[in-house]
Amino acid sequence: MKILRTISDCKQWRAQVSLEKSNHSSPTIGFVPTMGALHIGHESLIKTSRKENDFTVLSIFVNPTQFNNPDDLKNYPSTIEKDLEMAEKNGVNAVFIPESIDQLYPDQYRFKVSESEFSRELCGAHRPGHFDGVLTVVMKLFNLINPTRAYFGEKDHQQLTLIKDMVNSFFLPLEIVACPTVRETSGLAMSSRNTRLSTAELALAPKLFETIKQIKNKEQAIKKLNDMGFLVDYLEDQTHFENDRPKMRRYVAATLGKVRLIDNVEI
Ligand code: PAF
Repeated sequence: MKILRTISDCKQWRAQVSLEKSNHSSPTIGFVPTMGALHIGHESLIKTSRKENDFTVLSIFVNPTQFNNPDDLKNYPSTIEKDLEMAEKNGVNAVFIPESIDQLYPDQYRFKVSESEFSRELCGAHRPGHFDGVLTVVMKLFNLINPTRAYFGEKDHQQLTLIKDMVNSFFLPLEIVACPTVRETSGLAMSSRNTRLSTAELALAPKLFETIKQIKNKEQAIKKLNDMGFLVDYLEDQTHFENDRPKMRRYVAATLGKVRLIDNVEI
């Protein structure tokens, strides 16, 4: 497994891979962008990419521009050794771990990709600038890796929707593959942030998904969550086109202790 630390490492690896032919055509590259602290949800993205592509690249970069809260950035979990073990075990071909923030932001974030509607709602309304940071870093990574397909979890459904829209709007030559949310047996969506929950919070956290699924009335669901000890940022039902079909989805974000959890369910 190749470890890429700089932009030139990435370009070199990508150029070398392009020369390798599979069945007389260009090899396919699957890309799994992450911020590390990998869990079974990431592993399932990697496994899907491995099945569908000749090569799989993983990136691990805690992207500062998508954090509006410095404490959240400071406390973001990091388990790099374990991450590399998981990547290796799953047959990842290359891992891009930029050696510095400047590798990805030589412009000091003077240039950015922004979206003016959906990115300002839901998580965007509570985390100003968050999606500008996400879209910008994802665009940079796509340009560097030039993947055939990129894999994103449905847990971050708003992020997934915005990335799909960005790819369509800028005619980027890749396919975005949406992968189902991986859950604990309790129903709690897997997230790197779950490691920061206390034992008591971990026992309560599955109620988030249970409540948004079971209580149809929005106001009642919010009240129930707040009464249980969550601090609800938002709970909203929205309709969006997914694969050309309108789908109604319920989105939620709530803080438990010091940890902000998000989830969604098709309704
Ligand atoms: O979902 C994430 O982990 C991040 O938002 C991403 C897509 C890797 C961009 O930093």
